[in-house]
Amino acid sequence: MTKKMMRLGLSMRGLGYHPAAWRHPDVPVNGASEIEHYHTVARHAERGKIDMIFFADGAGVRAKDTPKGSLARLGQYITDIEPTVLLASISAVTTHLGLVTTASTAYNEPYNLARRFAGLDLMSHGRAGWNIVASWSNEEAKNFGLEQVRDYGERYERAAECAEAVTGLWDSWEDGAFVLDKESGIFFDESRMHRLNFEGKHFKVRGPLNARPSEQGRPIVVQAGNSPAGRDIGAKLAEVIYTASNTIEDALTYYADMRERLAKFGRPPDALRVMPGFRTYIGRTREEAQEKFEMLQDLIDPVVGLSFLADTFGDLSGLPLDEPIPADFKPAGDREGISGWADRLIARSRQDGKTIRELYLEQAGQASSNYIGTAADIADIMEDWFHKEACDGFNLTVPHLPGGAADVSDLLVPELQRRGLFRTEYEGRTLRENLGLPPHRNRYTGADRVREASIA
Ligand SMILES: Cc1cc2nc3c(=O)[nH]c(=O)nc-3n(C[C@H](O)[C@H](O)[C@H](O)COP(=O)(O)O)c2cc1C
Repeated sequence: MTKKMMRLGLSMRGLGYHPAAWRHPDVPVNGASEIEHYHTVARHAERGKIDMIFFADGAGVRAKDTPKGSLARLGQYITDIEPTVLLASISAVTTHLGLVTTASTAYNEPYNLARRFAGLDLMSHGRAGWNIVASWSNEEAKNFGLEQVRDYGERYERAAECAEAVTGLWDSWEDGAFVLDKESGIFFDESRMHRLNFEGKHFKVRGPLNARPSEQGRPIVVQAGNSPAGRDIGAKLAEVIYTASNTIEDALTYYADMRERLAKFGRPPDALRVMPGFRTYIGRTREEAQEKFEMLQDLIDPVVGLSFLADTFGDLSGLPLDEPIPADFKPAGDREGISGWADRLIARSRQDGKTIRELYLEQAGQASSNYIGTAADIADIMEDWFHKEACDGFNLTVPHLPGGAADVSDLLVPELQRRGLFRTEYEGRTLRENLGLPPHRNRYTGADRVREASIA
């Protein structure tokens, strides 16, 4: 039996996950709007035999300007290039790298989504993937005729329907449908074309999709969401789950829960790859790795730092940064359900004597969930998670680009390869093959096929 290999994604948006990445001396300041930057990152990823490049996304400027002046200093989070367009270009300069992006079920029609991703899948010869998100930001909602996001239940109901319709459309053409016979004049076998005739509460879609399946049958379905409703969509339809587990305990609990949910939907455990986000600062020595982290932390503008506390506390800009939050302070953050979190953070800051500056550095730099060290240090942790079956691999959320991607390919990947945990060559050409997933089975193949009269 071949040894199970770790899966790796390189998760990105713009210039990296650290909020001060754009100010780093090695980062191209306008890179998030330049195709050459993305090509460079993708080439680093492919050189490292990474399974897939993954784009987080939102249809709008999601950051609020609290405190005033923070928006203008947030850099890479404000503007970028729409990722399906971007991935089409990346597909032309790579041959094996998986190409996955987020796209919202709140602001897209299923037919548009199915068609766009099917096109990307064809162009890349079977390397595309769709990360289903229901979208949480009121700032995005305002770009689509809404004042705020739809309520939670409706958002997820819509997401579930949309995902059903998209995956249904991707099965429009059964295996062997395209006979392409110039001699007889038959382009496709009508009996192998299927109309979906989907009718739900939010969407009505007839089909068929006017794009044929790629070499991997259909794009890979990815899901990132933590609530029971989100997990159920993942367990029913997804092939990769992107999670936000910060500890091995969280990851073990999450994975066990997903296995149960998979069984509920009659899917085998091997049908899913669970990949938590994993922030790495990799150095040739521990000191170098720590310096890389400190350097970015030092570049956080205080106004930007305070914006990371604003959802919880409101605007703290009037308070001294090098003192703890005052004892009589009342949090003004208005998000439902997080006041307990704000209270805990205030209590902890008093207990540890943490200053406001220390608090924002912790939040903005995600100080509690970073992995900082040599490749061997970081590989030790990854190996532990992987062997204890806390996950199937990791989505590396590197702090700055392209340098962080180069560190992964030059330092971390060789260490994982040396331990026999990661591939030295891509196994196949499609993302499905490289993730070791079973071939896609078109829902109509083998079933009694329905004969459709003609294309309308
Ligand atoms: C690891 C991870 C990555 C995510 N990436 C995105 C993203 O790129 N764009 C987006 O709009 N939402 C993203 N989300 C948010 C989720 O889609 C979802 O809206 C949010 O987690 C709240 O839903 P939940 O309660 O089901 O977790 C992500 C969530 C997680 C956990």
